[in-house]
Amino acid sequence: MAKRRFIAAAAIIMLGMPLTLKADAVAGKAAFDKSCKSCHAVDGKGNPAIAKALKVELRPLGSKEVQAKPDAEISKNITEGIGKMKGIKSLAAPDVKSVVEYVRTLKN
Ligand code: HEC
Repeated sequence: MAKRRFIAAAAIIMLGMPLTLKADAVAGKAAFDKSCKSCHAVDGKGNPAIAKALKVELRPLGSKEVQAKPDAEISKNITEGIGKMKGIKSLAAPDVKSVVEYVRTLKN
């Protein structure tokens, strides 16, 4: 009996986790589509036309170099900009957090 209850509780916990992750990633994807996709492409690999126009190498957001950055640094890149990328001012702090969550899902 106790064992069965434990299994039920474990199942609820395991089911709940991806759901909460998903909620953030979904919000993050919406914000990404709106504020980042034009330059970074839907998969984060970069829009070649933008890279060419800005004469910059657009590193894929899923690459290990970008993924190695801590969340705080990716947030800073977004809000303050980096190199030829200007800071994105249109995102509220919770949106920045969701976008970072989404960027984590692009990891190759
Ligand atoms: C107007 C085009 C543009 C938009 C919009 C844009 N970026 Fe960028 N982003 C760039 C460019 C260009 C670079 C490379 C900058 C450089 O190396 O000089 C860059 C770099 C980055 C980097 C650092 C990558 C690295 O190589 O370390 C991150 C992280 C990033 N962008 C995330 C985002 C996110 C998330 C958004 C949306 C909130 C976004 N960017 C919106 C153009 C853009």
